[in-house]
Amino acid sequence: MHLRDDSQTMEQLRAYTEKANATIQDLSKRIEPLMKKLGEIAQLMGIRLLTAARNFPDHVRVIARYYPDWKFLRIDWSLLAAYVFRSPFTLSKRYLQQHGQQDVYQYGETPLPAIDQIATECGITAQDTVYELGSGRGRVCFWLNHFKGCKVVGIEYIPEFVRVANGVKNKYRLDKVTFIEGDFLKTDFKEATVIYLYGTCLEDKQIEQLIEKLSKLPSGTKIITVSYPLSDYTKKPLFEVMKRFPVNFTWGTGDVYLQYKK
Ligand SMILES: C[S@@+](CC[C@H](N)C(=O)[O-])C[C@H]1O[C@@H](n2cnc3c(N)ncnc32)[C@H](O)[C@@H]1O
Repeated sequence: MHLRDDSQTMEQLRAYTEKANATIQDLSKRIEPLMKKLGEIAQLMGIRLLTAARNFPDHVRVIARYYPDWKFLRIDWSLLAAYVFRSPFTLSKRYLQQHGQQDVYQYGETPLPAIDQIATECGITAQDTVYELGSGRGRVCFWLNHFKGCKVVGIEYIPEFVRVANGVKNKYRLDKVTFIEGDFLKTDFKEATVIYLYGTCLEDKQIEQLIEKLSKLPSGTKIITVSYPLSDYTKKPLFEVMKRFPVNFTWGTGDVYLQYKK
């Protein structure tokens, strides 16, 4: 009698154990993607914190150099306030994902002290019309217009960046600032006297297409590029590098090239 009871209990125990094992396996299968996602989020937050720490001196420089100018402070804060709860990096990533791009981590910005140095080295003045190819959220355009007094046109294909930048432009009635929503490979920029391109993530094919467009610019147009000169992508003698100088970006020091269209 006892023996039968024992074997029944053992059977039940085995059944419970199997059920518990199956439940644990099922749970861990469900939790696995969640843990992976949490890991990715922690990694991204870590990278953000590290970047923020590394860029801290830049923020201090911006406050000390440009924020004593009350009007620029208001323009810049109006722009930055629009991105407090959604970062431009996330907006760009989402746009690129929706458009089926492989590399969705392409967004970056020229720090204001960097554009200050670039504008001085390249002799940008109030007489210039600067076209920024891929203007992002437009901070560089606002800085150039405010501190150099030049006319600026930003071309950008992410609609939200253009919508917010146009809102700031209208709020402060900045007549010499224009933002165009579109692909710079299909937009006319013949009236430019200066072109600024921070296009370190562009594919070779895109740079070659751009060169084709730039080849139609009047001779003497200044073209500023980050990390590479245009002559690296064409055998034709279209451009002459006048200057190459190091500039600090968020990712480190990069070479900036000032070239003239021949
Ligand atoms: C590296 S970010 C630079 C942003 C800004 N120029 C700066 O220096 O702070 C490049 C920007 O170019 C935009 N972009 C890339 N290819 C483009 C294209 N073909 N037409 C319009 N915008 C483009 C991206 O959406 C992104 O905002």
